[in-house]
Amino acid sequence: MILKACLFDLDGVLVDTARFHYLAWHSLANSLGFKFTESDNERLKGVSRMDSLEILLEIGNIKLSEKDKLKYAQEKNQLYLQYIRKMTREDVLPGVREFLSTLRHSGILLGLGSVSRNALEILNRTDITAFFDAIVDGTMITHAKPDPEVFLTGARLLNTDPESCLVFEDAVAGVRAAHHAGMKCVGIGSPEILAEADLIVPGFQGLSWKSVISNLNE
Ligand code: BG6
Ligand code: MG
Repeated sequence: MILKACLFDLDGVLVDTARFHYLAWHSLANSLGFKFTESDNERLKGVSRMDSLEILLEIGNIKLSEKDKLKYAQEKNQLYLQYIRKMTREDVLPGVREFLSTLRHSGILLGLGSVSRNALEILNRTDITAFFDAIVDGTMITHAKPDPEVFLTGARLLNTDPESCLVFEDAVAGVRAAHHAGMKCVGIGSPEILAEADLIVPGFQGLSWKSVISNLNE
């Protein structure tokens, strides 16, 4: 592939907020009287806040009115905000800043493709906003991953064909969204979970984008 742009998921890729989402959902499940495990949490990654709540309620076998759903989604977000409001530039995952910086210096366009409505706050708190030529977040899209909308919007804002974009994702739904958009995808995390990705790496530390591209082109 000829690489022109990279699109990055945020939660669990650039920062460890996937953990905070889990802790907040876990505590909501607790207060509703059921157990919510880390393996249940995999199903929520890349999924919008309201869709995540639906999955959580299905796991707990709980039926709620639309009004109560909104109330609980808000409650979960308040818990989540308590975690992210403590974040600083130290919370960017190892190697991320270096990786983004090398790509920029090599003339590759950078985009953020997150379904989170809190994305801008996290980017600003961790001081990585300026790396991105385009930012797509949950306030700009109608369909969460695995729908390709978030990545296709990113490609459009960057004026780049989907085939020249590479996505970095930690969620199964995100890998599928990239493929639905006609983009290759590097999975950040474990091969057991991200088997559908075109290449899987544990993280960005020591990762060279040239080796990523040559691996993908093999
Ligand atoms: C995604 C996370 O990035 O954002 C999901 O992987 C989360 O777990 C979704 O539900 C929506 O996030 P927020 O911050 O708008 O509640
Ligand atoms: Mg993610």
